[in-house]
Amino acid sequence: MPTNRRAVAPFITIPFESSGVPIYRQIYETFRRAILSGQLPAKSQLPSTRSLAAQLAVSRMTVVNAYDQLLAEGYIEGISGSGTYVATVLPEELLEIRDKKRCRQHTATAKRQTTLSRSGELLASFNLANLRARTDKNFSAFNYGLPAIEAFPLELWSRLTTRRLQRMSASLFGSGNPAGFEPLRQAVAAYLQTARAVRCKPEQVIITAGAQQAIALIAQILIDEKDVVWMENPCYLGARNAFAVVGAKVVSVPLDAEGFNLPFALKENKNARLVCVTPSHQFPLGTVMSLSRRLALLEWAKRANAWIVEDDYDSEFRYAGRPLASLQGLDENGCVIYVGTFSKTIFPALMLGYAVVPESLIDVFAAARALSGSHSPSIDQAVLTDFIEEGHFARHVRRMRFLYAERQAVLIDAAKKDLAGLLEVPADEAGMHLIGWLPDGVNDKTASEKAAEQGVETKPLSAYSSEPLTRGGLVLGYTAFSAGQIKNGVRRLAKAIA
Ligand SMILES: Cc1ncc(COP(=O)(O)O)c(C=O)c1O
Repeated sequence: MPTNRRAVAPFITIPFESSGVPIYRQIYETFRRAILSGQLPAKSQLPSTRSLAAQLAVSRMTVVNAYDQLLAEGYIEGISGSGTYVATVLPEELLEIRDKKRCRQHTATAKRQTTLSRSGELLASFNLANLRARTDKNFSAFNYGLPAIEAFPLELWSRLTTRRLQRMSASLFGSGNPAGFEPLRQAVAAYLQTARAVRCKPEQVIITAGAQQAIALIAQILIDEKDVVWMENPCYLGARNAFAVVGAKVVSVPLDAEGFNLPFALKENKNARLVCVTPSHQFPLGTVMSLSRRLALLEWAKRANAWIVEDDYDSEFRYAGRPLASLQGLDENGCVIYVGTFSKTIFPALMLGYAVVPESLIDVFAAARALSGSHSPSIDQAVLTDFIEEGHFARHVRRMRFLYAERQAVLIDAAKKDLAGLLEVPADEAGMHLIGWLPDGVNDKTASEKAAEQGVETKPLSAYSSEPLTRGGLVLGYTAFSAGQIKNGVRRLAKAIA
C-alpha cells in the first residue's frame, strides 16, 4: 500500500501507513516527534480535534484518543475554553532535571562518609563468594548442596499448589503466625519424632527461612558481644559468620575420630556460651559424633548452663549403617536447639527450614521471627504440609536416597579410574558430597582454581577452615548431577589437576 501523507500543520505530515500501527497511535507519534524536535514549540496551539479529524478524514474519536495520550504523557495541555497547546515543560525535560538532581544527590552520597555499625563492618568484611554459589547461574559438577531437581515431582507440587489456592481459607491470604503455619509445625514435629527421635511438641517448632535463618535467630537471641562460641573446624561458614556478626568470640575446635573435640575445647576456652555442631554428619568432613562424645557434650552444656545448636542439615541422606538418633533426643535439660532444612530434601529456593527450641524460648523466637520478615510464605508452608502429610515427602526422600547412593558410587568409580594418584575420594555412608583428598603438599585453593578453568565447580576444603589444614581437599557435591555429568566432571577435573 502506498504511503498516504497528509499535512496537518506547517511542516507536519502524518504518514498513514498500513503498518498495523493504529491510526490514533500514528497521529500521537507524529505530534510527539514534532514537539520534541521543536517543530511544534512550547505553547503553540494544536488544531481542534474536529478540524484535524476532518482534515485527516478520520473519525473524531481517533484524534481524541491521540490527544488524550499526549495529554496523559504531558506533551500537551488543554486550556479550557481556549484550546489545546504544546506544554511549556516537556516530560523529557522534567526527566532530565530529575536525573541531574539525582546525579547530584548520588555524588553527594558517594562523598558522604559511610559509617557502618559494628555488625555492618563485620558483614562488609565477609567473603561472600560462598553465598554467590547460590545464584541463578547454571550449576555444574561438583557444586555442593544441591538436590536432584530433575527428580523432584514438580508436577505433583504444582497440583498441590493449585489445590491449596482453590481451597484455601481467606485467612491464609492474610498475615500468618510468625512461628509458622500450625499444620506445618505439627507435621514437622511428627516427622522429627519418628525419623530423628527429636522430642518436641509442635509449638516448639519455629518455621524459618531455611536453616541459615534459624542459626541467625539463635545468634541474635542468645549471644552477646564477646560471648565465646565454639565452632567445629572446618565448618559451615554460614553458621560461623552468623555468630561472628553478632560479635561472638568464635573459637575454632578441631575434630577427632569422635567428632567435635570437647577435651581440646575445654582446654582452649572453657567458658563457652554456645557450641554449634553437626553431629549426624559433620560438615564438611562427614564424621559422625560418637555416643560418648554426645553424652559428654550434653553434660558439659548442663553444667556450664550453655547451649548446643545441633545443625542436622542432611540427616535424611544416610545410605548405610544405622544413624544415631539426634542429640536433641538425648537431652534431658533443654540445652539443645535442633535445626533442620527442606533445602536439601525439597529444593533450596523453597527457603523453608526450622528450629526446634526449648519451651522457654518459643515466644522470644516467635518475636525474633516476626521482626525478621514476619513469617515464611503461607502458601508454600501449606503446600509443604500437604506434601508431608500425604506421604510424598517420605517417598521422595526414599527415592533420592537410592539415587544419591548410585551417584556417589559413580563418582567413586570414576575417581578411581581417572583421578588415581591425583585425588583420593573415599566413600561416605551419608550426605550429599564427598571429600577428594589431594596428595600431601598440594594446595587445594590452587587446585580449585585450576578446576574452575575447566568448568568444574569445587570448593577447597581450606575455605571452610580458620586454621591451616594438614592436607588439602576438594568438596565434591554429587547429588544434583547425572552419571554422565559426574564422569565428565571427573575427566575435566583430572585434566585440571594433573
Ligand atoms: C551444614 C549446613 N548447615 C546449614 C545450611 C543452611 O541451609 P539453608 O539452605 O536451609 O539455609 C547449609 C547449607 O548448605 C549447610 O551446608
